[in-house]
Amino acid sequence: MNDNTFQFFSGSDIYTLLTMEKCIEAMHEAFSALSHGKVVMPPRMRLMMEEDNANALFMPVYLPGSKTVGVKTVTNNIDNISRNLPIVHAMMMIFDSVTGVPLAVLNGEAITAMRTGAVSGLATSLLAREDSRTAAIIGTGTQGETQLEAVCAARPITKAYVFDLNVDKARDFAKTMSEKLHIEVVSAASPADLAEADVVCTATPSQRPVFDDTHLKKGVHINGVGSYKPDMLEVPAETTARAKVVVDRMESCLAEAGDLAQPLAQGVFTREHIHGELGDVATKKISSRENDEEITFFKSVGVAVQDLVCANLVIAMAKEKKLGTTLTL
Ligand SMILES: NC(=O)c1ccc[n+]([C@@H]2O[C@H](COP(=O)([O-])OP(=O)(O)OC[C@H]3O[C@@H](n4cnc5c(N)ncnc54)[C@H](O)[C@@H]3O)[C@@H](O)[C@H]2O)c1
Repeated sequence: MNDNTFQFFSGSDIYTLLTMEKCIEAMHEAFSALSHGKVVMPPRMRLMMEEDNANALFMPVYLPGSKTVGVKTVTNNIDNISRNLPIVHAMMMIFDSVTGVPLAVLNGEAITAMRTGAVSGLATSLLAREDSRTAAIIGTGTQGETQLEAVCAARPITKAYVFDLNVDKARDFAKTMSEKLHIEVVSAASPADLAEADVVCTATPSQRPVFDDTHLKKGVHINGVGSYKPDMLEVPAETTARAKVVVDRMESCLAEAGDLAQPLAQGVFTREHIHGELGDVATKKISSRENDEEITFFKSVGVAVQDLVCANLVIAMAKEKKLGTTLTL
């Protein structure tokens, strides 16, 4: 009998229960299911809140194989930068898809950060050079942290350069992350430091390129997570034009990612230039990196199945570790 209870997981519960390695494995599962047509995931709905220079995203997903259905609601408030608040806030609800019984409510910011890092980790493990040792993180906010963690989980990184418009923030990030990951993390002294990076992650709300194409190393892999609207852009069009471009989901990226929508609209390249989806690389339907010279670019806007597999991982781990709070509806 349903006793009307469900589990609540705070950000601290989620960070205690999840490891980046497990989340990357969960992403492999999620993107393989997507590639095999085993995910029901309508395009997310974006509600514009123009008066507040903000938007809200509603992201439903049903994964029949896991017997769960869920929805995450995310708010994006760009002006929070000047308020010294994070841009992103989010909550997620999970239900048993057989009975419809509510299972859990989760802090969506922690789920978002872990799954956004983890998908870049998966892309890095599939696309970056095996011998990648140096990373660069552009944007040292919430996502920047899990981007670096994920890249380190996917490749034997020993050094990372970090860049942010806010130099003090980059310096604090470098100190915290070098202690957390036991690698050398330095606040970059000049944009030219990028030339040492084997893997670059961009995690900013920028509307202009956040690096110069000429500074990139040969054979670099780029994870671009920041641009999720057509007017946002982080990666120079010249870079995208000469890269092997892999996306999380084609229809979402074409509709939402300024990194692709803008050069496509300007005729810099055509739709055929985009190599394909990450799930199809994971299931080997399409090729991965083919040599040490090519530039690979993984563009993600974030898809709901990432959230659901991470939330399901939290629920499973919580049963083992007896964590979470039981609430009654
Ligand atoms: N792809 C996805 O799945 C996904 C998921 C979550 C968030 N996002 C997006 O990622 C971006 C970052 O999110 P966050 O939660 O880390 O935000 P945040 O506010 O915590 O951090 C963003 C950081 O970028 C810095 N920044 C802004 N413009 C910059 C520039 N031109 N060069 C260098 N640094 C710059 C800011 O100073 C800030 O430190 C946002 O656009 C967000 O919407 C994408």
